[in-house]
Amino acid sequence: MTNRTIQMNDTLYQYLLNTSSRESPLLAQLRDETAKDPMARMQIGHEQGQFMGLLSKLMGARNIIEVGTFTGYSSICMAQNIIRPGSVICCDVSKEWTDIAQKYWREAGVADVCELHLAPALDTLREKPAVLIWRLSMPIKKIMMVIMKPVCACCAPAVCCS
Ligand SMILES: C[S@@+](CC[C@H](N)C(=O)[O-])C[C@H]1O[C@@H](n2cnc3c(N)ncnc32)[C@H](O)[C@@H]1O
Repeated sequence: MTNRTIQMNDTLYQYLLNTSSRESPLLAQLRDETAKDPMARMQIGHEQGQFMGLLSKLMGARNIIEVGTFTGYSSICMAQNIIRPGSVICCDVSKEWTDIAQKYWREAGVADVCELHLAPALDTLREKPAVLIWRLSMPIKKIMMVIMKPVCACCAPAVCCS
């Protein structure tokens, strides 16, 4: 939080890009290809993609659900930064746009991680709640296993004095 509002004007935005952006040539190519589409403005900015990748890494994310994949920019940013084995479940309704995403997943080496569900996201989330909940709870299970592992003979499995 700051005690004043900073306007993101063109000069400041350009400064941010110049000093912190590390867009790969492949993501730049995807941006160029997407730019030809009349709906290109739906694509996230590369500073946002970079931030999503950073968040995925900091969280130690293993499984992510993306609602709205478009041509794949954000899914690649996240997939390149999750713990493997892991998955990015990609929900979208457009075959045309996700065909582009799939092409770039292959080129980015994340085709084994990104799992396309070509259907309204609500349907996917409704159809597969058990799988999704199980996958998303993986890190919690891992933490619980680590906590519960060093159990000495005198302690109940869930509570340990060591
Ligand atoms: C703003 S774009 C997503 C941008 C994308 N995350 C990126 O990095 O470029 C929104 C996407 O949501 C998809 N979409 C719209 N309604 C949907 C729905 N009900 N279920 C799944 N996807 C939907 C559209 O086809 C479109 O590709």
